[in-house]
Amino acid sequence: MAGEAMVNGLKYIFVGGKGGVGKTVIAAALAYELAVYNGKKTLLVSLNPVHSLSSLFEQELSGGKVKQVEGSPNLYSIEVEIDEIVERYKEKMSSRLREFFRWAEVPLDPGPFINIATTNPAFQEAAMFDRVMDIVVDESKKYDAIVFDTAAVANAIRLIGLSKLYGLWLNRMIKSRKEALETRYKLAVRKEKILEEIRNDPIIADLISLHEKFKITRGILTDPSQTGFFFVTLPQALPISVVKRFINMVKSFDIPIGGVFVNSVLTREEAERDGTGYLKTKLEEQERYLNIISREMGEYIRGYVRLAPREITGVEALRDVIEDLHTFRPG
Ligand SMILES: Nc1ncnc2c1ncn2[C@@H]1O[C@H](COP(=O)(O)OP(=O)(O)OP(=O)(O)O)[C@@H](O)[C@H]1O
Ligand SMILES: [Mg+2]
Repeated sequence: MAGEAMVNGLKYIFVGGKGGVGKTVIAAALAYELAVYNGKKTLLVSLNPVHSLSSLFEQELSGGKVKQVEGSPNLYSIEVEIDEIVERYKEKMSSRLREFFRWAEVPLDPGPFINIATTNPAFQEAAMFDRVMDIVVDESKKYDAIVFDTAAVANAIRLIGLSKLYGLWLNRMIKSRKEALETRYKLAVRKEKILEEIRNDPIIADLISLHEKFKITRGILTDPSQTGFFFVTLPQALPISVVKRFINMVKSFDIPIGGVFVNSVLTREEAERDGTGYLKTKLEEQERYLNIISREMGEYIRGYVRLAPREITGVEALRDVIEDLHTFRPG
């Protein structure tokens, strides 16, 4: 399809919504359009605990590494392995904690503290966000666009919001580390040695670089000329209320809303073909929800996708999704 991509101009595209509403399908369609139709080098990032890009593109895309999607020029994908990043993040945090214990001269075994910190449920989210930051800050240089298929969208949003808080916390840590070193400086006889130590302090360097990464990430993710958060909903009660909640959350964190896609819309023709009358009842119900969607988030709607007779797999099916996004309107 010629013309402009659904998400034209944005570099960082996040796709979220309730479980099973079609986030992966929509994210893949957006990425496919950017890459194949618009010639932009695009990375599709799956942040799901269970990945489905391999079956969607009918090729092996797992393994936690960036792979070029065969048959789809300019399209790259990565299925981020949660266990792997949690393990790596655990090592990173453990060495940080050990360093802090040493610095604060706490005569305790840091082991149990490390265990408590890293088995906290929020730790997985933090590890995931750390990986997202790496992609946004570093790996993004290699791409024109990056589409994130986010399973736990609430977590992702909260983490972006939290990055402000983390920033404040890090600032505080840097400050107190400097103060501690200054005290030593004042007390020291050989001041040169302490100055040297301050310059090469690994904790300060680590905190500053982490803080920089947060600031850069936050700057990018709150910039509406680069980033958009998109939501997928079905014309059903629950997914709509989930999206409404997310929209408010995103707004409160200054994250730009890209728009809403309405998936799996039943058409009148399809409903009328059904002799049992079941689909006609469904259609009436759907109309009510479509009205609610237009009334309550009309300004955000970017496209609709019809309910296909079977699962969406393979690029032909994705191309139909893109076509629908541009041309199909219920009613
Ligand atoms: N418009 C559609 N018509 C028919 N089937 C669809 C449509 N959109 C999605 N599906 C199918 O619905 C299922 C769920 O879609 P998808 O995996 O994209 O949802 P998801 O939101 O990513 O789910 P999860 O929350 O589990 O990651 C898949 O089997 C997909 O092929
Ligand atoms: Mg999915």
